[in-house]
Amino acid sequence: MKKMTVRILRFDPETDRESHWETYTITVNDGARVLHVLHTIHDEIDPTLEYRYCCGSGQCGSCAVRVNGEPTLACMEEARNNSSIEPLKLTVKKDLVVDLIPTLETIASIKPCDELVMPKRSEIDAMRPLKDCIECLCCVTVCPAVGVTEFPGPTMMRQEMRLALDPRDRADRVTEAVKDRLFSCTSCQACWKICPKGIEMPAKAIERLRALANRKGYTLPRHQEVAALIKETGRSVPRTGPTFLEQVGEVIEPYGPVKATVGFFIGCMYNMRQVQSALDAMEVLRRNGIRVIIPEEQVCCGSPLIRTGQLSIIDSLKQRNIETFRSRGIDTVLTMCAGCGSTLKNDYTTPFEVMDFNEILTKYGIEPPARLPIRATYHDPCHLLRGQGIHDQPRKLLRQVVDLVEMPSICCGSGGGVRSGVPEEAAALGARRGEDIAKTGAEFVITSCPFCEFHISGHTDRPVRHVATVLLEGYQKQDRKNCSCKKE
Ligand code: SF4
Ligand code: SF4
Ligand code: FES
Repeated sequence: MKKMTVRILRFDPETDRESHWETYTITVNDGARVLHVLHTIHDEIDPTLEYRYCCGSGQCGSCAVRVNGEPTLACMEEARNNSSIEPLKLTVKKDLVVDLIPTLETIASIKPCDELVMPKRSEIDAMRPLKDCIECLCCVTVCPAVGVTEFPGPTMMRQEMRLALDPRDRADRVTEAVKDRLFSCTSCQACWKICPKGIEMPAKAIERLRALANRKGYTLPRHQEVAALIKETGRSVPRTGPTFLEQVGEVIEPYGPVKATVGFFIGCMYNMRQVQSALDAMEVLRRNGIRVIIPEEQVCCGSPLIRTGQLSIIDSLKQRNIETFRSRGIDTVLTMCAGCGSTLKNDYTTPFEVMDFNEILTKYGIEPPARLPIRATYHDPCHLLRGQGIHDQPRKLLRQVVDLVEMPSICCGSGGGVRSGVPEEAAALGARRGEDIAKTGAEFVITSCPFCEFHISGHTDRPVRHVATVLLEGYQKQDRKNCSCKKE
């Protein structure tokens, strides 16, 4: 048995004007779940506490709550001392009970066909990754698009795709999904990472629906323009001046002993638009013993096409990029764009390892930079945090240079083709991110993705920098210190 204290957000519409926290100390068995804690409080302290549950074994989805801010199933989540327990971010009926009906009503239902058609084994297997939903709605409450558009949410898209694969269903699910704002998903992956059933909605439902929508001619005009540009130039954005690849040679040698040799996959944004961030990254790598090989013939990774369902030239882009690095005998490819890194790691099968800039520097260690008198906040790029599982590494690097203040990890609105295709949604999400940044009181925003860098810059009055630029500023300050010491 163990004693623990938890806080619960309570609300009774009959007596309370607003919700308030109550603290409870209880004794539960070792290994108790959050649901056991709620039972104990209800049975031993306050029988008016309301919460939902049914199966007690992760099968019905009715017990979903937020524990320490994260949606989860109360019956599966281990209870921990000093946890906070809140209702999901939906309309609260009482305490931890929320109104599920409006959202459940949006989930597409099966319309049975007249004749009985038995699905084949292969058809059942195709539906399998999408059919285990228990309608807990955790995914809906973390989806950034739901709050700012009429997008009904990820599990609706999951159900549309599942039914599109079902031979017994006669409705046009792809057209329905397009009408339900299929192109509002930012590919942030928050729904997949929170889903207690591990349903991979961005790739298995949304991108597949977008690919089917492409065949029906529904691809948004701006996304078609991006595809045309890639076909014509190999790049997803137009040039704004001399590109990164035009400014560097094929090999950049480090200043000191070589700790590692990597190939560098630049990506379209760092090659064409955010060139200085990439040049800063090369300087940081040089100072830290990383030898960088930069093949000139590399092209767009294809992420803007995969995310928007335009797959016709994907295989040729993949082959060209893989062959470019393979033919040079490169066994580690470095990325500094979160989207490229996630695409190379998750959508390619490569004969080389792919590592992000933050991973490489953390692995080999860095020369200590001077501290900058800056209070900064770090924005987690979705394709770095959720696409590559990189959370601690940039923080560990940045804490050596600046005072870091945290903010919640939420999509800025630039991904999944939303910035180009649904600009009003991207602007609303960017504005929300700007408010999060302002609340931290930070003077600088630091991130590790060119799309986030570019988009957030338009929604905050604070300077937005790449991790590499901040590290380099620390090194330049250190150089100035060393120089003045020598003069003395
Ligand atoms: S990937 Fe992000 S934006 Fe897309 S449905 Fe999931 S949570 Fe919503
Ligand atoms: S998809 Fe996953 S998170 Fe969303 S409602 Fe279904 S089980 Fe819950
Ligand atoms: S009580 Fe059924 S999933 Fe938790």
